[in-house]
Amino acid sequence: MNIAVIGVGYVGLVTGAVFADLGNIVICADSDTAKIEMLRNLEMPFYEPGLEDIVTSNVAENRLTFSDDTADAVRRSEIVFIAVGTPAGESGETDLSQIEAAAEVIARNINDYKIVVNKSTVPVGTGDLVKNIIDRTKPRHIEVDVVSNPEFLSEGTAIQDALSPNRIVIGAPNKRVAMKLIELYSMLEKPMIITSVRSAEIIKYASNAFLATKISFINSIANLCEAVGADVEEVVRGVGLDERIGPRFLRAGVGYGGSCFPKDTESLLHVSRKYGEEIAILKDVIELNRRQPLRLVKKAEKALGTLDGKTFAVLGLAFKPGTDDLRDSSAIAIIRSLLSHGASIRAYDPMAMEKCKKHLPSITYCENEYEAATGVDGVMVLTEWNKFKQINFARLKDAMSGDCVFDGRNIYNPEVVRNSGLRYFGIGRGTDTF
Ligand code: UDX
Repeated sequence: MNIAVIGVGYVGLVTGAVFADLGNIVICADSDTAKIEMLRNLEMPFYEPGLEDIVTSNVAENRLTFSDDTADAVRRSEIVFIAVGTPAGESGETDLSQIEAAAEVIARNINDYKIVVNKSTVPVGTGDLVKNIIDRTKPRHIEVDVVSNPEFLSEGTAIQDALSPNRIVIGAPNKRVAMKLIELYSMLEKPMIITSVRSAEIIKYASNAFLATKISFINSIANLCEAVGADVEEVVRGVGLDERIGPRFLRAGVGYGGSCFPKDTESLLHVSRKYGEEIAILKDVIELNRRQPLRLVKKAEKALGTLDGKTFAVLGLAFKPGTDDLRDSSAIAIIRSLLSHGASIRAYDPMAMEKCKKHLPSITYCENEYEAATGVDGVMVLTEWNKFKQINFARLKDAMSGDCVFDGRNIYNPEVVRNSGLRYFGIGRGTDTF
């Protein structure tokens, strides 16, 4: 099939590359000429494992091209995916200006029956908005169907997730268009569900908000564990074995970040209020997540006294491992708070340092975890990169001048750390940390 994908962010680029890999002819279009130029030179605008390989091979096979002429891409395709950004507006509502702009381009350039598929995460009712914009401008005799097909991929495993999703949700306005989307996805051989457009839009928000709720819930339990001397890791093992609950997304830590959970919880809360059905639980989920990173700073204060003049090694800047994405990363909130207390930072991240330099130019960036730990009072692990899990505590201790390890992702066995002569502070791991 001939496919256009509007928007070359995470979702758009991965979607385009994967559809090309499945044998379709795909044009990825974006008005950002600099990004398109980069992609034409096979340079990726962000780090994602496997992305460069799949883009390079499909460009070489002439199935994948990049264009800054969205209008032309629309005219040459029968299916047009909208995968533009939907950032948060001032008060938590979603800014739909890029969606509206994409719909306008489609409306002005529609030359035949098109299926417009919305892949961006959007509030319920956006499918109707897109359809109305296109209907207003397009020639009367040309038909268009607007589908909602939310994307569930995670950063760091995006290619694998897109090639092997656990479900494909197709929110279709009629059977004809549903069948066409089923045909497009059939090669993946994964469960598909057909819903109304509005249900599909809600499925995406409900999924992300539920996962964020799981994380804030377990972080609340972790905080209680600290107060009563229990270990949240043991608690999660006991709770997670209940098949109705499951162990996933129950990792306590310094809170969730990224491009989805913070924005989508805010947006769902906003939408629920708009319709007079406030999902009040989300207020607590969001507030708890705002406070969670700062608890680690409080722990440091409790352990070291004033933070003024202290130095910390921060290991991990990205909001999760496997990416260089810093959006809403808890590490950034923690660093800013430490700096405001008068502390100095020596940071290391395997992938995200170049991007971080733009946000935090004044901190010291190091070559590796041991260099970062040199002469510091405390080490804070904020992203659970595999290489940090294998850290050599004897070497770490030799490099440090202090002895505090703040394990913001609970990746270490407290006993092993303590046996190395270091003090251990995790999240929800008993009162004995002090
Ligand atoms: C998420 C959803 O998982 C994905 O389905 C959706 O399409 C986009 O949003 P992503 O943001 O890439 O994906 O990362 P994810 O792995 O879900 O982690 C999000 C944040 O939650 C990270 O900051 C991570 O550290 C945190 N997290 C995750 C926890 O704190 N504890 C957990 O148990 C799991």
